[in-house]
Amino acid sequence: MSFSFNFFNPVRINFGTDSLQEAGKIARKYGTNALIVTGKSSMQKFGVLDKLTCILQKSGVNSIVFSDITPNPTVGEIDMAAKVARTNHVDLIIGLGGGSPLDSSKAVAVAAKDNISVWDYLKREPKSALPVITIVSTSGTGSEVNRFSVMTNTKTGEKPGFGYECMYPKESIIDPVIMQSMPKYVTATTGFDVFVHSLEAYTGSLSNPIADSYCEKAFTLLKESLVTAYNEPENIKARSDMAAASALAGLAIDSAGVGIIHALEHPVSGNFPNIAHGAGLAALTVESMKLNINNKTTKEKYARVAHIFGKIKGNKTEEDMAYELLETVKKILTVLNLNVSLKDLKVNEAQLEKIAKEAFTTMNFAVLNNPVQIDENNALKLLKDSFK
Ligand code: NZQ
Ligand code: MN
Repeated sequence: MSFSFNFFNPVRINFGTDSLQEAGKIARKYGTNALIVTGKSSMQKFGVLDKLTCILQKSGVNSIVFSDITPNPTVGEIDMAAKVARTNHVDLIIGLGGGSPLDSSKAVAVAAKDNISVWDYLKREPKSALPVITIVSTSGTGSEVNRFSVMTNTKTGEKPGFGYECMYPKESIIDPVIMQSMPKYVTATTGFDVFVHSLEAYTGSLSNPIADSYCEKAFTLLKESLVTAYNEPENIKARSDMAAASALAGLAIDSAGVGIIHALEHPVSGNFPNIAHGAGLAALTVESMKLNINNKTTKEKYARVAHIFGKIKGNKTEEDMAYELLETVKKILTVLNLNVSLKDLKVNEAQLEKIAKEAFTTMNFAVLNNPVQIDENNALKLLKDSFK
């Protein structure tokens, strides 16, 4: 079968232990007045923010800090940060933290050049954006290397993503030392996000040979190091492997997209913002895989993933191997203490219908990319099965 695809990524990746030290030199290429967009506490608590401002200062880059980004960031927070960027005439945005501050930094870079709410960019392509540097502190979303930004509308619970070409970060600093302070729950949820990115990009309609090869390497690294990073937070090899896996999977979804697990998760954490993105994914993955496994191409791909995770083919059929992947995933979830249902995560059952609907209104590109066609009834059933 012949195929066509599109692959583009312009982000310079500066990867390695203590690469944070390069931040000044890198930032100076793009500007002298930076806005650092970060979360409320972790980067302060572990001294990364102070270190960064000093490093920038030494290279002649002044910085101001916006530190009101919460996990699952809201339109209001991002609009506020964009206002700070405009008022202070900054020429560079530095995202520091997990996916939440990094996504926000890209949206701020766009909105800083206009005078409209970031929400309006869902319908209107921005003309340009300020340069963005991402300094990532979780190994999960892939936001460090892709163009996407996800935001929550607190009035409606909607949580769409958007991503235009001008939103690619100019450079990304990936320093695994920063990830050593992640608490176990953050390591587990963000690490599982990497797995789901790889799985959905690998099996989606937009999958392609370049993204596939990134996913395969991400799976290898996940097998090697996800559980180790969870059990030994300071293990720098495991943290490096997970950081590389996050970037690989982040590049893969930029070109090959995500699927039904993400389409359903966004309205889950949009309507229930206390739920971590990766925890929502954990509750939805097994039932989604059961649905997708019936597709012939998915079966083949799941079998290949099972092989990467160490399953021996022998006389087994592809279907047997695909089901072995399902068992592997259940085991990973158990080891990571993420064997949870939507009910465990305190989703209100009465909201499942709203969540199902929003998958189609806010994440339809992901629904369409899923290897099996899903309608609103399937989606609702999947949510109900993941609720038990
Ligand atoms: O609250 P702060 O101070 O930011 O601390 C965070 C937060 O509480 C903490 N944390 C982060 N790094 C740490 C750390 N604590 C100690 N040491 C560190 N090194 O962990 C908590 C979670 O952080 P957050 O940034 O919210 O997590 P994550 O990286 O999972 O990002 C989630 C957001 O990204 C979106 C999600 O929907 C969600 O809004 N996504 C973005 C994607 C993209 N750009 O491509 C794709 C994903 O599928 C996802 O949708
Ligand atoms: Mn994700």
